[in-house]
Amino acid sequence: MELVRSAPDVTTLADAIPIPDLGFVPVNAFLLRAEQPVLVDAGLTASSPEFLAKLSSLLDPADLRWIYLTHPDRDHTGSIRSLLDLAPRARLVTTFMGMGILSLEEPIPPERVFLLNPGQTLDVGDRQLTCFRPPLYDSPATTGFYDSLTGTCFSSDCFGAPVASADLAHADDIAAVPPSELVAGQRLWATVDSPWVTGVDRTAFRASLEPLRRLAPPVILSSHLPAAHNATTRLLEMLEQAPEATPYVGPDQAALEAMLAAMEPRST
Ligand SMILES: [Fe+2]
Ligand SMILES: [Fe+2]
Repeated sequence: MELVRSAPDVTTLADAIPIPDLGFVPVNAFLLRAEQPVLVDAGLTASSPEFLAKLSSLLDPADLRWIYLTHPDRDHTGSIRSLLDLAPRARLVTTFMGMGILSLEEPIPPERVFLLNPGQTLDVGDRQLTCFRPPLYDSPATTGFYDSLTGTCFSSDCFGAPVASADLAHADDIAAVPPSELVAGQRLWATVDSPWVTGVDRTAFRASLEPLRRLAPPVILSSHLPAAHNATTRLLEMLEQAPEATPYVGPDQAALEAMLAAMEPRST
């Protein structure tokens, strides 16, 4: 895991998972240094000790005021329970659906939660965070948000892409990824993470991108991509093509057995 300065007021806790058949999927959480500090997502479970140590090197977790959970998938919730203990003043920003899904494991005290729906705003002192539903998502609880002070957009899983190495996953900008690899990776990710995209009405999907196009955020911070500075037009062009992507079909049992056989040490 690396700490990456993605904007003057945002530090990314940049992790990655190697996935056979895909590559390295970046897994990002973000510390937004608003007047009331906001942590966006809570990393991987396996990385939790390192995640908490890295976060503590940036601020005392007790000073966190908000933990914005873009959705309760396991790659976003790794340290969430620890953080609720370490940050007693922080409230968990999620949706009713998000609270319900998290509470299947262990109830979240309702007084620790702040429910925010697309279109609503959260005041964090020096700015407002406006909640929106990203064009691609893999959970009914997913939201992202725009920062009213800087325009930065936090897009959750949308715009993600597996990359060729852990170093690229930790890059400070998508410019580090060769453009053709970036587009191919994003198209692949779109159908892995949001397989429904290949079945949508093209016109309706294109229309769903308009709010982002109009806002033209100068920085897009995806959970699964290095930071994208001044690249919104490019990213939206890619997204517009996502319904045309080849649907992803994962390895089947025979392919898994072949992979495992290839990994077995040869007997001499
Ligand atoms: Fe997800
Ligand atoms: Fe994710």
